[in-house]
Amino acid sequence: MATNPPKLKVSVIDDERLQNLKKTFEREYGGSPLFYAFAPGRVNLIGEHIDYCGFSVLPMAIEQNIIAAVSVNNSGTIQLANINPLYNNIAVSCSEEIVIDRANPKWYYYFLCGVKGTQEKFGMTNLPGMACVIDGNIPPNSGLSSSSALVCCAGLVTTEANQKSLSKVALAETCAQCERYIGTEGGGMDQSISFLAEKGTAKLIEFDPLRATDVHLPASAVFVISNCCVEMNKAATSHFNIRVVECRIATKMLAQAKGLNPNRLLKLAQVQTEMDASLEEMLALVDEVLHPEPYSREEICKVLGVTFQQFSTELLSANTQHVTHFKLHQRAKHVYGEAARVLRFKNVCDGAPTESIQLLGDLMNQSHASCRDLYECSCPELDQLVDICLKSGAAGSRLTGAGWGGCAVSMVPIDKVQSFLQAVREAYYLPDPRRAAMEKESLFVSKPGGGAAIYLEK
Ligand code: GLA
Repeated sequence: MATNPPKLKVSVIDDERLQNLKKTFEREYGGSPLFYAFAPGRVNLIGEHIDYCGFSVLPMAIEQNIIAAVSVNNSGTIQLANINPLYNNIAVSCSEEIVIDRANPKWYYYFLCGVKGTQEKFGMTNLPGMACVIDGNIPPNSGLSSSSALVCCAGLVTTEANQKSLSKVALAETCAQCERYIGTEGGGMDQSISFLAEKGTAKLIEFDPLRATDVHLPASAVFVISNCCVEMNKAATSHFNIRVVECRIATKMLAQAKGLNPNRLLKLAQVQTEMDASLEEMLALVDEVLHPEPYSREEICKVLGVTFQQFSTELLSANTQHVTHFKLHQRAKHVYGEAARVLRFKNVCDGAPTESIQLLGDLMNQSHASCRDLYECSCPELDQLVDICLKSGAAGSRLTGAGWGGCAVSMVPIDKVQSFLQAVREAYYLPDPRRAAMEKESLFVSKPGGGAAIYLEK
């Protein structure tokens, strides 16, 4: 049954922030907002770079979010302003097709992606017009999903502004598709948790079909987020899409080796399903079929029986056309191993054994090592930070989100939190003036927050 996004009263949101947003809206546009929409960022506890391979992930929403104050009009224009003066005001026509220039990403493109995809979902040829002020407090380019939260917020705004309604699952799926307009081939985790999150619980997110199950985290530990202060913009580099492509090629190579039809299979999870094998068996299969040396285009084309032209158009994406070598063995090993760790993490949480904190911590540490060594999506600063977090008392620590910069998430026993924060501050932030200046918004305890919603004024 379809569940509509809950309509809650404004008093639930931090009032000062909302009042500020309302005042800015009135100053910019001269009237009051009709409604507010918010969408949270997320921290992924375990299950990195496996959502686009079809495997389950285990994130929770964070308290930081994107809020939009919105009014609807007949101008045929979307007007956008941002509380943050770094982001300029813009006006875009919505009476003609919204165009997103991938070569030159701007802050509001994520908002436009959300509008455009939602418009297409409902088959609305043109939109009446709206005025919005955006306020976000998720650190950008830090692996906490600020861009997806903006897409989700825009999707929700467009749905509400046009008096349409979608279930949370449909909103999440629509917004995951929306992000493709910016050119990254993400897997849907960020949008799913932004809509399906519930306060107080992390979620196991499964795909095909999308569903979310509560995962109750041990009460004797907290999760601390720390930003390594290296920014990574996944839309502006090809790192992310190269990994997606490597997984797609590994899928085809494994399928081919096992006599399955490679044309039908796109994700590593589909090979497992087709073979009806366990994740351990898939790990053994990777060792048997794929070699650790990087694969050249020639070798892949030969094994798959495809031409260079087919390889470029069917397997590569627009921003990976330049890549000549592909590490298939390492990427597939990470994916099947990480998929198994997610299931173990959930089982430990469900069983709640006395040693659960150490078991969960070990899984997080294994996840980081796999991201660093097999998936190569960490960076020296992030590795240093993870190391410091472990030495400062964390039971487990790992990079979170896409990687190549951004945040680590650490699981810390409750009685050690204060000493942990102090030790990380002293070892990572204070020695470097740039990091020291960013410390306040870079190192914080996070509790599972609620999902995206519409707020009407009281
Ligand atoms: C980004 C993508 C997600 C996921 C993560 C890595 O956040 O948007 O879909 O792939 O990276 O786990």
